[in-house]
Amino acid sequence: MSDTTHPITAAPGAKRIDPHEVGTGVTRRDFLVIATGAFAAVGVAGTLWPFIDQMNPDAAALALASTEVDVSSIEPGQSIIAVWQGKPVAVRYRTEEEMKAAQQVPLDELKDPNARNANLDSNAPATDENRTRPGKEEWLVMVQVCTHLGCVPLGQQGDFGGWFCPCHGSQYDTAGRIRRGPAPENMAIPPYTFTNDTTLRIG
Ligand code: FES
Repeated sequence: MSDTTHPITAAPGAKRIDPHEVGTGVTRRDFLVIATGAFAAVGVAGTLWPFIDQMNPDAAALALASTEVDVSSIEPGQSIIAVWQGKPVAVRYRTEEEMKAAQQVPLDELKDPNARNANLDSNAPATDENRTRPGKEEWLVMVQVCTHLGCVPLGQQGDFGGWFCPCHGSQYDTAGRIRRGPAPENMAIPPYTFTNDTTLRIG
């Protein structure tokens, strides 16, 4: 596989978000942006952030402390991007192939062995199962913010079929675990629950 690591300079105008700002407050439902397929998701990422940036920061951050998502129209291989606490959260209905690929990765090959899952013990290992919730392993719900310097990676790209960060070339697998490049950690799994079969509450 080719090494696509880029020099440590951010792309002009690249959006950066503090990857550690992952809170747990619950207030009210807000909006979400639905996209189908990788290309649509990329397009949303490109148009969404200017809109968010125009919002009053206090009002926007508080309004998005909790986000409820109807996942009933998402099919295997499709993603949406929800907004939670001002951050993009990928909600991906993974295919069998994507899950198998992530499950087959030996843990000692992972750069970050920690699940980074706010729903689990902080020492939980980064198995594919631990990146999801029990009984809902097909759903990957993940803060789509690169753990290097906070750019927003592109979905379903790169050598591992997961996410590729265009800022400095970090590559994540189909469980959102860092596999190559300068990012130090797996992308964060936020607190979330399925309140019924088709409703996901983030936060
Ligand atoms: Fe540097 Fe993503 S922000 S690789």
